[in-house]
Amino acid sequence: MSMDRRPDDMVRITTPELADAFIAEQIDALRAQIGDKKVLLALSGGVDSSVVAAMLIKAVGDQLVCVHVNHGLLRKGEPEQVIEVFRNQMKANLIYVDATDRFLDKLAGVTDPETKRKIIGGEFIEVFAEEARKLDGIEFLAQGTIWPDILESEAGIKAHHNAGGLPEDMQFELVEPVKILFKDEVRVVGERLGLPAGMVYRQPFPGPGLGVRCPGAITRDRLEAVRESDAILRAEFAKNGLEGKVWQYFTVVPDFKSTGVKDGKRTFDWPCIIRAINTTDVMEVSVEHLSDELIDHLVSRIISEVPGINRVLFDYTPKPPATVEYE
Ligand code: XMP
Repeated sequence: MSMDRRPDDMVRITTPELADAFIAEQIDALRAQIGDKKVLLALSGGVDSSVVAAMLIKAVGDQLVCVHVNHGLLRKGEPEQVIEVFRNQMKANLIYVDATDRFLDKLAGVTDPETKRKIIGGEFIEVFAEEARKLDGIEFLAQGTIWPDILESEAGIKAHHNAGGLPEDMQFELVEPVKILFKDEVRVVGERLGLPAGMVYRQPFPGPGLGVRCPGAITRDRLEAVRESDAILRAEFAKNGLEGKVWQYFTVVPDFKSTGVKDGKRTFDWPCIIRAINTTDVMEVSVEHLSDELIDHLVSRIISEVPGINRVLFDYTPKPPATVEYE
């Protein structure tokens, strides 16, 4: 039986047994809804879409077509992980589109944050719709809608991105197998579906990706500095037991340069800003204070390994007054 609303008395899914029962129920409901038809899913590699993909692979196998659009603003190793987990391990029917050049060309010279967001969102829908048009016989569109999305859209806080904003002539019936779950429940279900812990318990990552961490006009070299420094930060947090403990952490490379010195020569390069925060509701955010040893180590690794960076700064500002992201 498929459910539209979370029953008031539903037990919070916190154990493998409860997750297994939910999965079994959903698989029956998905098979009943989909029959022998095809389902399309935009698979970002985030928690919600990954869990939906894993659930549908179990329920309808290769009737599911996943499309992973790489907009060039993903973190280091992300597209590779999506391909490894879903295509190689789970044998999903996965279409991988590397649209990096398309996105970065459209974004070239664009400095306004809201315009950047609109370009990224709009281009994403266009690429996804193009892929969808190439396919025959798709009747369903799967989405990783979760219960807070529905509550927020009912409260008028967030527009519920119904059907992902696809063009009017593309009509699909929606399939939303985790829509009555809270985020923590989605993670437990994802683990039981066999997804790697690193995928299921990952920190939040904004849709516009590294684009909002490369403030102002995005250039390929500065974007690469954001990606490389972010990868170092994530690796060091993992090594130091902070992964899964700190709510969100990332680097930002702003568009200004300062003087420095390396190997006896003057440099004129960007700074790299490190931000690590904790929160429960994202409305109020506190800063994670790092140890002196970790700070020193991060500074030395980033300076020596990331081209174009000659200074590392730490953002110790809570929210309010500062938002989490820089744009
Ligand atoms: P702010 O910057 O508003 O961020 O304090 C709060 C949380 O939301 C994430 N965030 C986004 N997520 N699309 C997303 O999917 C966006 O455009 C976006 N902007 C911010 C941010 O990473 C933080 O977790």
